Amino acid sequence: MLRGKRVLLIVAGGIAAFKSLELVRRLRGRGAMVRAVLTEAGAEFVTPLSLQALTEDKVYRDLFSLTDESEMGHIQLSRDADLLVVVPATANLLAKMRAGIADDLASTVLLATDKPVLVAPAMNVRMWQHPATVENIQVLRQRGVLLVGPTEGDMACGEFGPGRMSEPEEIVAAIEQALGAGGPLSGRRALVTSGPTWEPIDPVRYIANRSSGKQGHAIAVALARLGASTTLVTGPTRLADPAGVHTVHIESAREMLEACSAALPADVAVCAAAVADWRTAQQAGQKIKKGGNAGPPTLELAENPDILASLAAAGAKRPGLVIGFAAETETVVSHATEKRRRKGCDWIVANDVSPGSGTFGGDDNTVHLVSEAGSEDWPRMGKDAVASRLADRIATFFTA
Ligand code: PMT
Repeated sequence: MLRGKRVLLIVAGGIAAFKSLELVRRLRGRGAMVRAVLTEAGAEFVTPLSLQALTEDKVYRDLFSLTDESEMGHIQLSRDADLLVVVPATANLLAKMRAGIADDLASTVLLATDKPVLVAPAMNVRMWQHPATVENIQVLRQRGVLLVGPTEGDMACGEFGPGRMSEPEEIVAAIEQALGAGGPLSGRRALVTSGPTWEPIDPVRYIANRSSGKQGHAIAVALARLGASTTLVTGPTRLADPAGVHTVHIESAREMLEACSAALPADVAVCAAAVADWRTAQQAGQKIKKGGNAGPPTLELAENPDILASLAAAGAKRPGLVIGFAAETETVVSHATEKRRRKGCDWIVANDVSPGSGTFGGDDNTVHLVSEAGSEDWPRMGKDAVASRLADRIATFFTA
């Protein structure tokens, strides 16, 4: 719920601006107070009257309007908001934000604000992939600007690819996460690993496993929802990057370790990724050819670094709470108990991944929370529910 939360919506000029109307409706339905700033280009796509009717408030448009400034100065607009949301965030407005240009009301408010800012980019695929936009996004992210989307799909310009603005319900979810700032994990940093790793054999083949990333991604979302500033380090999955979570994409275990080390310090680390225990000792530079007298190749394997054990042994940088997962096919709790000791983590979430359990790739999970104090059996539930319950336990650990 967003009851009592104040959202300043900046509607810029792009075809996706029409979705801002549905967004206002949904935000108000959840109890948020919405005030809108409409750019000149935005008014080409959405009428001020529609926004005014849906927000039940005046729509702010002009930096130099005597009435706007006397009723509500641009500084006051941002002071009165809990969050600024830009829909659609056009390539032009993102570039202005990065450069600190303030040449209209929207860009001036964005420059003057000290409130969190969430942007929902929308633009043609080539504009999104242009090095200028890539760099602008990178810089804005580093400054703490939150992003939702864009997603991949058919675009109004007739092309297909990334650049489509997220749907209103996804933007609402991102807003809820961004406003989790008052939650019990507010001010805490969380690191979550998710998905499989891919260990290359040659340029076209790799060793992998069946992890879908559903469990790990759900944990990142649940922690962000409780207010944690969350970094998700994920192997290749089919899932979208969760809104309000800083997501880092990697392929191999060694890349995952590097990304996790770069994400420290963190208050809590949750390692839900199914990291490949082994990689090929040598990777062929060219595709290994089939046939010939030699027969099938023999793969020599080397052990991968253990990310969970490394985080648990990170000395001064060790997160205050280190949580692993244990994927077991038999004697789940006793194997997990032994794994917790061996890897040096505080808690381990044990799950049965034996054939027929449906844990890998499925939507549900049956887990046991193993700690120094013993083990606790949780009933079978959705992976989202496992994630929420675990996030609540993490919050209790830090607040008790
Ligand atoms: O992705 P889903 O389809 O939703 O499935 C979820 C899941 C089954 C992948 C997840 O719930 C899970 O159990 N993740 C851990 C899988 C695993 O690799 O378990 P393990 O018992 O082999 O490893 C134990 C722990 O050490 C894990 O926290 C793992 O992330 C970590 N590990 C393992 C090896 C390694 N080289 N580095 C690690 O950090």
